[in-house]
Amino acid sequence: MANTDLQKKLYSYIEKAIVELEIPTIPESLYAPYSYTMNIGGKRIRPYLVLLSSGICDGKISDALPSALAVEVLHNFTLVHDDIMDSADKRRGKPSVFKKWDQNTAILSGDVMFADAFKQLEYYGRDETFSKEEYFQIHKTFTEATITVCEGQALDMDFVSRTDVDHFEYTEMIKGKTSALLACSLKMGAIAAHATNEQVNSLFNLGIEMGIAFQIQDDLLDVTADPEKFGKRVCGDIYEGKKTYLTILALERSNQQQRHTIETVLADSDPTKKSVDEVLNIMNDLNVISDIENEVAQHYEKAISSLNFFKESEYKQQLKNLLIFLKNRDH
Ligand code: IPE
Ligand code: IPE
Ligand code: MG
Ligand code: MG
Ligand code: MG
Repeated sequence: MANTDLQKKLYSYIEKAIVELEIPTIPESLYAPYSYTMNIGGKRIRPYLVLLSSGICDGKISDALPSALAVEVLHNFTLVHDDIMDSADKRRGKPSVFKKWDQNTAILSGDVMFADAFKQLEYYGRDETFSKEEYFQIHKTFTEATITVCEGQALDMDFVSRTDVDHFEYTEMIKGKTSALLACSLKMGAIAAHATNEQVNSLFNLGIEMGIAFQIQDDLLDVTADPEKFGKRVCGDIYEGKKTYLTILALERSNQQQRHTIETVLADSDPTKKSVDEVLNIMNDLNVISDIENEVAQHYEKAISSLNFFKESEYKQQLKNLLIFLKNRDH
């Protein structure tokens, strides 16, 4: 991403706000994993989206920051619990929380992060420039997104034991587990800027499209990313038997023998590297990887073109740059 002054400024606000969270230190078993998670990196895309959205709608950064914090803390909570659910040992190149501590610690630290995310919204109930209705809308947007993410995660887990999931159903699931929070970030930024309903809804819809692109790409990077840069286990989804856009498309296109191989490897609790490579070969033979690369690009293009609705501004340009950067990311 081109490092513009605006981008640097917004990122410095985000990092400062995270420091100012002043996460308590005692009990250590509750709060150390919370601090650890917030401080081992992460792209901070969601808080950045909040600030950009607010800027596009001529809002004040100080009014958008509590929403930015809320979405980033909630996102980090989802990752702490997601890693337990996916048995993922690595997160952002470091041990995941349940691996570094233990599962009970990860559950409870996640819980306190969840509550702390909602706590950030108190700002809008106290600040006099926000009407009761705006406070209600911000709260409702955040609550609805949280519920939708949980619904998406539930389907994601249900899909593991199902063999009949098609890519349409999978896309509906990722609108929940991933799009919901990206769309919520853009919507909260707009509401915090006292934007019109039309602006709020256009930004929300952009976030849904962006989320579909982002999650399909996350599935793709699971097999294509450079292991040095990725920060998660390469092919972790296949080792874990997860349904992804790649395995689902491969299953839809495969002959009986290929289907048998994919299903056997996904059902194996500890597959060998050789058998995982066989699945990758089938995906390549069926053009799954190249077709999905094109599909990801198309979803990002659609998100970018929906920005046409907004007047030109530095913030709009930055959002466009972010989408282009994400479209081209390789890890
Ligand atoms: C990871 O999100 C979870 C998904 C929705 C795919 P990010 O890729 O935004 O994670 P961080 O915060 O940058 O680590
Ligand atoms: C995670 O999806 C989405 C949420 C955390 C809600 P993934 O399970 O694909 O995310 P990664 O790959 O672990 O980051
Ligand atoms: Mg998961
Ligand atoms: Mg995961
Ligand atoms: Mg993933």
